[in-house]
Amino acid sequence: MINFQKVTKIYQSDGREIAALKDVSFEIQPKEFISIVGRSGAGKTTLFKLLMAEEKPTEGSIVFEGEDVHQNRSHLPHIRRKMGAIFQDYKLLPSKTAYGNISYIMEVMGASDEEIANTVPQVLELVGLKERANNFSEELSGGERQRVAIARALVHRPDVILADEPTGNLDPINTQEIIRLLVKINEMGTTVVLATHNKEIVNNLGKRVITLEKGQVIRDEAEGKFIL
Ligand SMILES: Nc1ncnc2c1ncn2[C@@H]1O[C@H](COP(=O)(O)OP(=O)(O)O)[C@@H](O)[C@H]1O
Ligand SMILES: [Mg+2]
Repeated sequence: MINFQKVTKIYQSDGREIAALKDVSFEIQPKEFISIVGRSGAGKTTLFKLLMAEEKPTEGSIVFEGEDVHQNRSHLPHIRRKMGAIFQDYKLLPSKTAYGNISYIMEVMGASDEEIANTVPQVLELVGLKERANNFSEELSGGERQRVAIARALVHRPDVILADEPTGNLDPINTQEIIRLLVKINEMGTTVVLATHNKEIVNNLGKRVITLEKGQVIRDEAEGKFIL
């Protein structure tokens, strides 16, 4: 489903070259739950940016569902619709409610009023936030905000959820809840790629772990433990 083949990414910064990823290869199957772990600067975010085609690889190729994501820019909107992304800082619109943050994205995508009225309550229910639909994001806790962001990522029924340090700003209890929600979404059939440096999450999951160190894959284990 996702295939990185000998991917190297070198950023140019102030005339210096920074190798963020070096000769990275791996394959992710549909319906996998995979964690990408590594210290800050290891290259986790770069990996997501390359997959979402926000950055270009210096070498190598990235294939998503049989298509090279950097080959044909006109296919990008179609490819990106199959990906749902969530981030450490949630990226909600503060001027909108939980409901409004989700309906807005659907409006932008050209969904009908009826589709919006059907889908938004469904995804809010799925993430356990039905009662908070009309609260503005500043009235929500960090965990609740991340759940709105997850609901928003789900509206176009993506094949994969890309979660970049989604619990980075959360306490242990909210962290557990968000991870449990991602596991539930995975069990419903969506591939999940989770980037994190949180040892406990990964050790408790008992799922595949790729470890990045200074831009290189140093381990790829079916039931990985987090070791640095
Ligand atoms: N736009 C950029 N320009 C220059 N260097 C960058 C840029 N983005 C990331 N880097 C560098 O690439 C390396 C990997 O960064 P990143 O992918 O953000 O790692 P992580 O998400 O694991 O913390 C780091 O050394 C970082 O400083
Ligand atoms: Mg990062």
